[in-house]
Amino acid sequence: MRRKVTVIGAGNVGANTAQKIAAKELADVVLVDVVEGVPQGKGLDMLESAPVEGYDVKIVGTNGYEETAGSDIVVITAGFPRKPGMSRDDLLLANYEVVKSATEQAVKQSPDAILILVTNPLDAMCWTALKVSGFPRERVIGMAGVLDTARFRTFIAEELNVSFENVTAMVLGGHGDTMVPLVRFTNVSGIPLSELTDSATIERLVQRTRDGGAEIVKYLKTGSAYYAPAASTVEMVESILRDKKKVLPCAVYLNGEYGLNELFVGVPVKLGKKGVEQIYEIKLQDGEKAALMKSAEAVRELVGVIKSKIQ
Ligand code: NAI
Ligand code: 2OP
Repeated sequence: MRRKVTVIGAGNVGANTAQKIAAKELADVVLVDVVEGVPQGKGLDMLESAPVEGYDVKIVGTNGYEETAGSDIVVITAGFPRKPGMSRDDLLLANYEVVKSATEQAVKQSPDAILILVTNPLDAMCWTALKVSGFPRERVIGMAGVLDTARFRTFIAEELNVSFENVTAMVLGGHGDTMVPLVRFTNVSGIPLSELTDSATIERLVQRTRDGGAEIVKYLKTGSAYYAPAASTVEMVESILRDKKKVLPCAVYLNGEYGLNELFVGVPVKLGKKGVEQIYEIKLQDGEKAALMKSAEAVRELVGVIKSKIQ
């Protein structure tokens, strides 16, 4: 049976995600955006590269949701970037409205879909999608940890002049300044990072990872990263559609794991055809646990702002 993935938001992250899904022949793709013509134009353009690249999938662009019916996965990238004069809370509430409306319309057409959230602030948008959809927590997942981990792996590989593929890393927590790169679980082909370089270098790489999103924004000036975010989203889509059961750091709704409740926080999970098939609760040392709690507090604060506005 043909698989179907809807990508909501045909901007930088959404369009690149759609293109990568098509290029890997993971599924037919429906690209949705509010701007008239943009998803249609981008979708057709992607389709016209099929004969050249040799993929056989359908790609449709639309401003509505009818074509999304029966999707296996819905990826939500729709949202606003922060504009001059807009506070963090203004952005939070603007994107809350976007994600709420996108989720409502998408789940009406695809009640059995798995939702992957990308829109920022990520952890709070996951909370919004969970509450609005009424889906079980296994089917609402946030993309951030794969990206943050990819950045950490990139910086380590460059520093040590080794293959990117050989670097395994783990970054937990919320998608923000308080994210928690776990050095103890980071290695190069099994060799702990601490055996390969000194602590000052490790601290520099950790800080660069925390600032990874801002580093790209500083270069681009008018937008944020999209190639690595799209690649990270597609790794999650692929693990689910192909039931690969990859263990990846993703934002999931915690119900007591790590001592946290009713909050989306990035932790290692197994992703398969049912969505989140297992949450791994690893034993953390005191410093690591304190860092995770601090990160979770930052997420709780954002969710608190949404709750105060909608109740
Ligand atoms: P973008 O501005 O290029 O694209 C956003 C798109 O959403 C636009 O095409 C816009 O027309 C569309 N849109 C707005 N309201 C909509 C609605 N109600 N329904 C459908 N479409 C709607 O932004 P970009 O670079 O693609 O980023 C998208 C989001 O992803 C942002 O919130 C960004 O901060 C976030 N992001 C999150 C990452 C993560 O690690 N979780 C990584 C990179 C980006
Ligand atoms: C990033 O980390 C903006 O969240 C986005 O690049």
